[in-house]
Amino acid sequence: MARENFYQLLKKELLRLDESGTSKRFEHFIDDFNSDPSPKAMIGGLPYSVFNSNDYLGLRHHPSLKSAEHAASLKLGTGPGAVRFISGSFAVHRQLEKRLAKFHGREDAIIYSSAFAANLAVIFSLIRGQSKDSVIGNNVLVISDELNHRSIIDGVRLPNLGKEEKAIFKHLDADSLEEILKSHVGKFHRVVVITDGVFSMLGEYQDLQKIRTVINRYDQQYPEGILLIVDDCHGVGAFGSTGRGCEEVSGAKADVLVGTLGKGFGADGGYAVGDQTVIDYLRESSATYIYSNSIAPGCAAAALAAVDLLDSSDGVILLRKLKDNITELKTQLNKKGFQLAAESSHPIQPVLIGDSLQTKALVKKMFEKGFLISSINYPVVPKGRDEIRVQLSASHTREDITAFANALFESAHDLAII
Ligand SMILES: Cc1ncc(COP(=O)(O)O)c(C=O)c1O
Repeated sequence: MARENFYQLLKKELLRLDESGTSKRFEHFIDDFNSDPSPKAMIGGLPYSVFNSNDYLGLRHHPSLKSAEHAASLKLGTGPGAVRFISGSFAVHRQLEKRLAKFHGREDAIIYSSAFAANLAVIFSLIRGQSKDSVIGNNVLVISDELNHRSIIDGVRLPNLGKEEKAIFKHLDADSLEEILKSHVGKFHRVVVITDGVFSMLGEYQDLQKIRTVINRYDQQYPEGILLIVDDCHGVGAFGSTGRGCEEVSGAKADVLVGTLGKGFGADGGYAVGDQTVIDYLRESSATYIYSNSIAPGCAAAALAAVDLLDSSDGVILLRKLKDNITELKTQLNKKGFQLAAESSHPIQPVLIGDSLQTKALVKKMFEKGFLISSINYPVVPKGRDEIRVQLSASHTREDITAFANALFESAHDLAII
């Protein structure tokens, strides 16, 4: 069969990826979690402390989420059964959308199966009309931060924009955004600016106040204005004293905010919040909403319980605990002579190692000692800036953090990194 030739090419490509050290398919399978106050992942019968999860508040193990999910799936079944507009729309989906809108101070929200699906739909919808009869104009410039997440990059790729219709501004640089906006006045009807809130490689965040100030300066100079889309998947439920993410920390709002239910909220799925008109339009235009199932009703119930919890005094206590854990880890790593790849006040703490092979050896050694951590390597970070990305959770105890810092130091010492 001639297709065997193609499968040979696939094999060759897999080998190439393996040899370059970038393959990702060799995963650790978690069998269980023990009932420790900070649950450890059980892999092959051994416990592992998880320092590479986005479960920033430890909500995935919270009893109120588990019982909400259990009750909803007992009553409503385990899956949605159809896409939203056919027969897969449950009251709990709508309750969750209203709750998310209220939490973020917006008119409405729309849930997607993931934040990746949300970004694809939101970005495409606000750039391109959906049919040749659509009244939505296509004369749009798209401007994106140079280190945006892959889901944003793919969202910008989808409409197949011409070279002159897209521009990249320098990472975290509002002046660079301003230069682009200034030089395109008169050439486009509308601009869409897109950025991550918190950037997951280094834990840095976009100062939305600076971005908003620049946008306001140029908005009137484009007939349909400038829309700001912010993906704050790592910010919401992790950042800011009430967990409202970058908007709370920088004091300015996006026009459309995209979030995930699968990180700080401890459930699964994605969403966007914004003005009623925009959300109504997204419900009509989003292929990943119209032609793809929503989250299961049990998952929506768990997410609803998570938003309620985050928006309560218990949520504030968890956020404070997370903040204390960040301070504790930074203090301990600093005392042991580790350097950070960037200053971060977020639960993502990037420990600078520098060399790619050493970074990978450190991850392996830490696994042998019972810790799950991840390395971020070139070309995701510049050469010589390879890092260990440590992710903290409110569920870590002080003992967990001390044990982690000690193990990291011993491992780094054994490998002559420190
Ligand atoms: C910035 C950002 N956006 C979107 C996503 C995708 O989130 P989800 O898992 O809900 O698709 C991620 C997850 O890695 C992310 O880091």
